[in-house]
Amino acid sequence: MNAPTLQGLNLKTPSYVKNPRLIAWVADIVALTQPDDIHWCDGSDEEYDRLCEELVVAGTFQRLNPAKRANSFLARTDPSDVARVEDRTFICSERQEDAGPTNNWKAPAEMRETLQPLFAGSMRGRTLYVVPFSMGPLGSPIAHIGIELSDSPYVVVNMKLMTRMGKAVYDVLGVDGEFVPCVHTVGAPLEPGQKDVAWPCSKTKYIVHYPETREIWSYGSGYGGNALLGKKCFALRIASTMGRAEGWLAEHMLILGVTNPEGRKYHVAAAFPSACGKTNFSMLVPPAGFDGWKVTTIGDDIAWIKPQADGSLRAINPEAGYFGVAPGTNYHTNPNCMASLDRDVIFTNVALTDDGDVWWEGIEKDTGALPDHLIDWRGLDWTPQIAKETGAKAAHPNARFTVAATNNPALDDAWDDPKGVKIDAFIFGGRRSTTVPLVTEARTWTEGVYMAATMGSETTAAAFGQQGVVRRDPFAMLPFAGYNMAEYFQHWLDLGKKLSAAGDAALPKIYTTNWFRKDEAGRFVWPGYGENMRVLKWIIDRIEGDAKGSENLFGVTPAYQEINWTGLDFSAAQFDTVTSIDRAAWQAELKLHTELFEQLRHGLPAELEATRANLEQRLAA
Ligand code: GTP
Ligand code: SPV
Ligand code: MN
Repeated sequence: MNAPTLQGLNLKTPSYVKNPRLIAWVADIVALTQPDDIHWCDGSDEEYDRLCEELVVAGTFQRLNPAKRANSFLARTDPSDVARVEDRTFICSERQEDAGPTNNWKAPAEMRETLQPLFAGSMRGRTLYVVPFSMGPLGSPIAHIGIELSDSPYVVVNMKLMTRMGKAVYDVLGVDGEFVPCVHTVGAPLEPGQKDVAWPCSKTKYIVHYPETREIWSYGSGYGGNALLGKKCFALRIASTMGRAEGWLAEHMLILGVTNPEGRKYHVAAAFPSACGKTNFSMLVPPAGFDGWKVTTIGDDIAWIKPQADGSLRAINPEAGYFGVAPGTNYHTNPNCMASLDRDVIFTNVALTDDGDVWWEGIEKDTGALPDHLIDWRGLDWTPQIAKETGAKAAHPNARFTVAATNNPALDDAWDDPKGVKIDAFIFGGRRSTTVPLVTEARTWTEGVYMAATMGSETTAAAFGQQGVVRRDPFAMLPFAGYNMAEYFQHWLDLGKKLSAAGDAALPKIYTTNWFRKDEAGRFVWPGYGENMRVLKWIIDRIEGDAKGSENLFGVTPAYQEINWTGLDFSAAQFDTVTSIDRAAWQAELKLHTELFEQLRHGLPAELEATRANLEQRLAA
């Protein structure tokens, strides 16, 4: 169908777009936002190259030295637009209790009234891009389609790397297929003749979700999860509400495959809060002493997990690329990630070297020295001297790279398999400098859900606001649950019961980890990164029945001699520093669990409160 004009607007609809609901919606948004032009993205490499070139001309992108980073670009954002804005993120369900006490809420009608004047004319002077994308393998029964309308070409090229984006989506959508409509504007219309800035955005920001009508409206930011709407907005907030209605899970989890020397393969899904090690763990390279072990990546950030008739759980990564934290990444901490960043990468808010390469804090571990001079993420001169005097970071702490999954040398063969992979264990791991031990296995599903529900973590640069304060981050989903957190806990408990009743597949075991305990000098005690393999192996040993473990207050933990220490000098005393349980600290911790449960008491599952009371008794004994 060719519908060149609707309401007097030239929509330039390509002939392969055949969905009347989509065309009518585009017409509505065009009428509302009044862009100067419309571009229907086909997802081709030519389109990607052309838009990148246009971004270079506009000053948003700088092409990196092709001899160092082939076909790669650096973007510097506005200094005010560097992370997710949790306080500007809203779940607008009809009833406030459906959003729950951990989400910002406004009634849909009220929010629509607020947004209407902001979106009106918001794309003036810009092009509206129609971005069709599939979360999950195209055409798979577990995949879902979204269409993002955005006035940001930076968003378009990022979506090309992060999702299955392009023309083929329309074949799946057909005439009457379902899609999640996602509207995005940077909120910076241009008057005739007005010159654009390198990173347009607005002081006013709204990241809005209407779960009942499955819509996303994002205003004012061009950055990451605020703007790449397939990611947190769709694949977590909207998808979690879809999952609750349909009996599946949308989780803030990496998925990895781990194969032992005997060739047996297991799959682990792990939820760590933002900037707490998912990308790292999903690409882990086993250290010396682990000959024959192999870790492969299915996903680094999001998992969609569906129960099967036999009582097993299968998971897919709905994304097709990584939007990962740059600082701290080097050949020692994450060699597979470094290899992924050789070519075809978009870097955002990292520093620039004098020879046109990228730089960030931590990368000097590879070269052994700090560079004499850099251009920092704000575009200013940086020298080791300036850094020493002012504490200025060359890269923003939330600087990121965008890269297609296919760049990852450790990519799992099944990463794109529509059937997904069978999950054998879940891990939940916060960032805690004290209190929480290295690894604990829950004795039951309910105990595991309790551990995940009460997880605390120190805040990071991934979200705007204060850093390093401990907050409860249930299931690493605090900023991403699209509905009431208490009901989300219930959904997990219900799933455990359903799986147990369904068939004879064993329920996945549930673990908590903490890689981040510090000593008195403030240094990490656990070496982390590849060395996390030692913990992962113990988990696999537990699944295979080869490690006995010992019981503590919360569950089962490894004895020192149950960990393979080959190639690492880590004494029993050091092990004690990362595994010991301090009763006083845990009594204080339990108060925080109680506070969380107070906040969530409306709909909080009784089993979780009973588990808490039980733990309190054991602690007092
Ligand atoms: P999001 O993309 O925000 O969801 O984060 P993520 O969970 O994927 O975090 P990522 O793997 O990118 O790690 C974030 C930061 O934590 C980086 O600076 C890493 O260097 C650091 N990190 C990752 N794993 C470890 C670890 O085992 N120990 C320590 N000390 N730091 C780690
Ligand atoms: C996170 O903050 O958990 C991220 C980065 O994965 S963003 O996509 O910006 O949300
Ligand atoms: Mn994340």
